Amino acid sequence: MQEKDISIAVIKRLPRYYRYLGELLENDVVRISSKELSEKMKVTASQIRQDLNNFGGFGQQGYGYNVEYLYEEIGKILGLDKQYNVIIIGAGNLGQALANYIDFERRGFFVKAIFDVNPRLEGISIRGVEIQMIEYLEEFVKSNTIHIAALTVPKLKAPAAAKELVNLGIKAIWNFAPTDLNLPPDVLVENVHLAESLMTLSYRLKEIDDAELEGTEE
Ligand code: NAI
Repeated sequence: MQEKDISIAVIKRLPRYYRYLGELLENDVVRISSKELSEKMKVTASQIRQDLNNFGGFGQQGYGYNVEYLYEEIGKILGLDKQYNVIIIGAGNLGQALANYIDFERRGFFVKAIFDVNPRLEGISIRGVEIQMIEYLEEFVKSNTIHIAALTVPKLKAPAAAKELVNLGIKAIWNFAPTDLNLPPDVLVENVHLAESLMTLSYRLKEIDDAELEGTEE
């Protein structure tokens, strides 16, 4: 299958297709039309067709989509047919929660090590992975293939920690610290800022409240 230059907006929609198709598979659904898929996902059928056409399209006229095939192909596009070794830097609340989350493994993401600076955390095991002191990071990264580092340290510590990871050759950082990391362009950074999505929610709530207020003022 040929992949053209795909817009990031399309790429960001693919995990959602993947999740829905996974649920359909679990329910033994063999095939689905773009109309049915669109009703489930609450996006237009033409959006689905357009998105999937970026990858050559997987549907057949009059048949719809073969759920298993589409699920596997989207998985391949997202690189989920591979295994990724992940390390976590910062074993506080969030770092431990990530390490505890078993579902990442189902997607091919394996937590191989967790590092922290706090000696009180040393040796604590999270789902079989012991928290190590940060001094061992270099040795670990040099002797293991690590694809992704999750950064869950305090905001002020994040830039230096990220720099160290880059110096050790890490090429992808999953950044949870609420700060922008200025890293070389060949390093991939995916920011996850829960507070920002909460702010979007508060904006939408405010809109509803304002509309209700206007309604009562009439
Ligand atoms: P926490 O204070 O529980 O954990 C931070 C851990 O990082 C501590 O165990 C600390 O010893 C360790 N640490 C400090 N400097 C370090 C370094 N240089 N190398 C390795 N470990 C180091 O904090 P929490 O609640 O887990 O939050 C972690 C980060 O994630 C913070 O930056 C916080 O703002 C952010 N956060 C982001 C969210 C999001 O939506 N992305 C949600 C919650 C927290």
